[in-house]
Amino acid sequence: LFAAVEMAPRDPILGLNEQFNADPNPNKVNLGVGVYYDDNGKLPLLKCVAAAEKQMLEAPKARGYLPIDGIAAYDRAVQTLVFGADSAAVKDGRIATVQGIGGTGGLKIGADFLKKLNPNAQVLISDPSWENHRALFESAGFTVGTYAYYDAAKRGINFDGLLTSLNAAAAGTVVVLHACCHNPTGYDLSAEQWKQVVELLKARSLVPFLDMAYQGFGEGIAEDGAVIGLFLASGLDFFVSTSFSKSFSLYGERVGALSVVAQSKDDADRVLSQLKRVIRTNYSNPPTHGAQVVATVLTTPELRQLWEQELAEMRVRIKQMRGQLVEKLRSAGVKQDMSFVTTQKGMFSYSGLSKEQMQRLRSEFGVYGVDSGRICVAALNSKNIDYVTACIAKVC
Ligand code: LMR
Repeated sequence: LFAAVEMAPRDPILGLNEQFNADPNPNKVNLGVGVYYDDNGKLPLLKCVAAAEKQMLEAPKARGYLPIDGIAAYDRAVQTLVFGADSAAVKDGRIATVQGIGGTGGLKIGADFLKKLNPNAQVLISDPSWENHRALFESAGFTVGTYAYYDAAKRGINFDGLLTSLNAAAAGTVVVLHACCHNPTGYDLSAEQWKQVVELLKARSLVPFLDMAYQGFGEGIAEDGAVIGLFLASGLDFFVSTSFSKSFSLYGERVGALSVVAQSKDDADRVLSQLKRVIRTNYSNPPTHGAQVVATVLTTPELRQLWEQELAEMRVRIKQMRGQLVEKLRSAGVKQDMSFVTTQKGMFSYSGLSKEQMQRLRSEFGVYGVDSGRICVAALNSKNIDYVTACIAKVC
């Protein structure tokens, strides 16, 4: 039966973890996967999470099946966070939100639903994008193309190219957009550019699918989520996948969501019924623990405040690492001006290093980044940054 099964290629991001774990180099540093580590190189357990878990332990509950769309209080908390408690769409019941298995799960529920709804639609992702976007939408059965995004020469966004790509897209095309902290480049559209993009999406009848995996890692929770307000105001139907992996440091709990904003409560109710079918036929219903933790934190004022504080600490530390990276690369002898690193947002820096340089960093020095040149700045710390910058200087 399996004689003809081909060995699949290693995942470009998570596959690096496997390689990293097997590497005996005592100096190795993992800047591959998008995970935040504290200054001691440890994965943090947020205090707000520990406090919510303590509360949950003190009042233990049996684990029945959750509703197909997840914990109701969690779905409401997601809506409030993403769209704002006062948003008319929330108040009118025009948003269908379901708990997802991480942000990836939210994307896949949306992709499967869209494939049924509009099987001939094309999907466009940014060039470049998170490696898994293409694979995920292709596995849902779509043909996936790209829209122009990154301008390597300018180290920024090819905005004219982006508008040209969207203008050329057929009506109904699904456009996957990064709501903030673009992965992998770290370059986000300005508010003015977002406005133009939203207008164009509307004029061309395109279907926006926002991936929001890093809310709070750019400029702040509200600032990073501001783009949602533009989409709400546009009156477009749109999709938002949410991930709490990073913002709650709950990677292994797989806590995410999908929200679909519709024209009416009636539309949203029918959409919800279809999302539930997708979930039921994939994994029946979601797990309890992580979503209960997030719901508890988001709906308990003191814990919510603590979360915001802890998220801000992570954000500030990443920014400090960006500044130090630029300084230390300069003092390590890198001639090229690397100051662009401080203009990028979120966990990643698109370093501009070539595939060959990234592979040398890995094989000669045990410094792991993605072949595209993406490095996770959130994994740098005061103990490993000198080593990392010295190694980058060597491959430059
Ligand atoms: C990343 O881009 O490194 C993260 O989103 C983790 C993942 O699942 O790829």
